[in-house]
Amino acid sequence: MDRKPIKKAVFPVAGLGTRFLPATKAIPKELLPIVDRPLIQYAVDEAREAGIEQMIFVTGRGKTSIVEHFDIAYELEATMKARGKDLSVLDSTRFTPGDIITVRQQVPLGLGHAIWCARAIVGDEPFAIMLPDELMIGEPGCMKQMVEAYGEVGGNLISVLEVPREEVSSYGVIDPGSENGALTEVRGLVEKPPVAEAPSTKILSGRYILQPEVMRTLESQGKGAGGEIQLTDAMARMIGTQPFHAVTFAGRRFDCGSKLGFVEATLALALEREDMAEDVRAMALRLLG
Ligand code: UTP
Repeated sequence: MDRKPIKKAVFPVAGLGTRFLPATKAIPKELLPIVDRPLIQYAVDEAREAGIEQMIFVTGRGKTSIVEHFDIAYELEATMKARGKDLSVLDSTRFTPGDIITVRQQVPLGLGHAIWCARAIVGDEPFAIMLPDELMIGEPGCMKQMVEAYGEVGGNLISVLEVPREEVSSYGVIDPGSENGALTEVRGLVEKPPVAEAPSTKILSGRYILQPEVMRTLESQGKGAGGEIQLTDAMARMIGTQPFHAVTFAGRRFDCGSKLGFVEATLALALEREDMAEDVRAMALRLLG
């Protein structure tokens, strides 16, 4: 069956990043680097690998530097060129003019509200959502796995992974139906449930492919967990009217919105870099005594 290809991704980056203060007072959380690439760059690269062309950033106050990261830095490039330095390190920050789009979420009222702020740009097409603080490492990447699954089942897709039961209350959790390989039918969704009420231990992990109708659902979405307008609540209301599946990501996920996850990602990725693995390993062993 012919489906509209996924060409647009929304990156909600208007959050306050309070768990990383004071680091995130003047620098957006999404620009914190894992080794030498900011978090947002990993997410944008993952989107491109999946064939997505237009990147829509939902920004807020103090987040302009995220957009600058994907601009041409004329003085920097001219100086580097004059000094004979290799400019290819900047390749992944280059974009076709017009393919980086920003909209503003004036007040951080929640993830659902942030997505709704992109409604005019998303228009009447299915689209992806990517939370840059969830760092997904896999081959192929998480969004590519999801786009492939979308080609099979269409509708709405969310990426999920298993966590220990005691951790479910920090996340959105699915009520799973029948399973078929990496695909699980989604019968219900609940945001930050108490452990005893969680319908499973499969949590939402920051990657979505949604039909444009979610924008209309968000329009009338009231506040949910934490007093925020939750995307999970809007998606839950769509179940039954449209197909909904979860894709279990074959790969690794680091929760870089938390300090522990951030440190883990830094160490894990540094240990895999050809140019530094050996030195990092020796350093880690020395630190561990
Ligand atoms: P988080 O729950 O991680 O919130 O948001 P946060 O503000 O980034 O960080 P903490 O919890 O205060 O440390 C998940 C994603 O949703 C975006 C965030 O930027 C992040 O990418 N978001 C959240 C918005 O864009 N707007 C909002 O109103 C809330």
